[in-house]
Amino acid sequence: MKVLVTGGAGFIGSHVVQKLLARGDSVTVLDNFNDFYDPAIKRGNIDAIRDADGAERFELVEGDIRDVECVHGVLGDGSFDGIIHLAAMAGVRRSILDPLLYSDVNVRGTQVLLEEVRDAGTRFVFASSSSVYGANETLPFTEADDIHCPVSPYAATKRAGELLCFTHHHLYATPMTCLRFFTVYGPRQRPEMAIHKFVRMMLAGEAIPFFGDGSTRRDYTYIDDIVDGVVRALGRDEGYEIYNLGESQTISLAELVEAIGEVVGVEPDLDRQPMQPGDVIVTYADVSKARRELGYEPTTGIREGLEHFLAWYRASRLAGAESR
Ligand SMILES: NC(=O)c1ccc[n+]([C@@H]2O[C@H](COP(=O)([O-])OP(=O)(O)OC[C@H]3O[C@@H](n4cnc5c(N)ncnc54)[C@H](O)[C@@H]3O)[C@@H](O)[C@H]2O)c1
Repeated sequence: MKVLVTGGAGFIGSHVVQKLLARGDSVTVLDNFNDFYDPAIKRGNIDAIRDADGAERFELVEGDIRDVECVHGVLGDGSFDGIIHLAAMAGVRRSILDPLLYSDVNVRGTQVLLEEVRDAGTRFVFASSSSVYGANETLPFTEADDIHCPVSPYAATKRAGELLCFTHHHLYATPMTCLRFFTVYGPRQRPEMAIHKFVRMMLAGEAIPFFGDGSTRRDYTYIDDIVDGVVRALGRDEGYEIYNLGESQTISLAELVEAIGEVVGVEPDLDRQPMQPGDVIVTYADVSKARRELGYEPTTGIREGLEHFLAWYRASRLAGAESR
């Protein structure tokens, strides 16, 4: 297959790209290397792709999904069999500080991309988020839940993206899959995300920010399981569907911090702070639909995943990476 991966220099995207190249696909990445976090990290991800299997079938386009001309230049000839749209402004808290940027990239940028996809043979996979469930109280979260209460601009933009995808599918019969990722972690995880930040701070002997009383719960999904789900979704060739991709296990913030402390070998020092606006109390995925229809089967539990993360973190430090 010939596949375009937007945001392919990022955490999830770079793993997806490597998986596709390894199975023989040709992959083009469209990424603007923005400074949401250190762009040198994204350059490092691209270097890793270029060092891995199938690199001769890899192409990089540096550009912005909001740039109509650029997107037309990449997609205009209709030659892609599939598009995996991961480029976005991610992160709940930053979206509260800059909601206009989040709408511009996540909503308008998604529309710019969709405008170039009019061939009903082109498969489109959209990275949505568990945050769309917002203050949903029915646990675990299922795709059939009536969600109407996103609690951050980020969540609202991701729900808007799902709706734009639905409309596009309705009008042009594009095979469309929206994937609601539940907090993803593993090698190359974004540096501001909880597990990466906690490991870095604990190893540096710093107190970690601890929001609320520690009872908030998250469904953490290991990167290999997410990549597997994304690649399976690319196999869909008709219809519009939404799938949860999670581990379908939850862990409280207090338990997570304790587990990281054990894996790292450090007694955690906590900097207690109030709950942050936009944070949700719990995320918990029902993955039975993805299991049934995609054959998705998450296999990496949190303890094993933390150990993999720590091994990667230590190896990348030894290799002289910046503080990431
Ligand atoms: N990591 C998670 O836990 C998680 C959870 C739910 C959903 N998601 C979604 O998955 C996707 C990937 O997340 P990630 O954690 O890998 O984030 P990331 O920030 O590492 O990757 C996103 C990539 O998109 C690129 N990008 C951003 N704006 C762009 C633009 N205007 N034009 C072109 N490229 C642009 C960035 O440079 C970056 O490389 C995002 O859509 C995110 O919202 C992630």
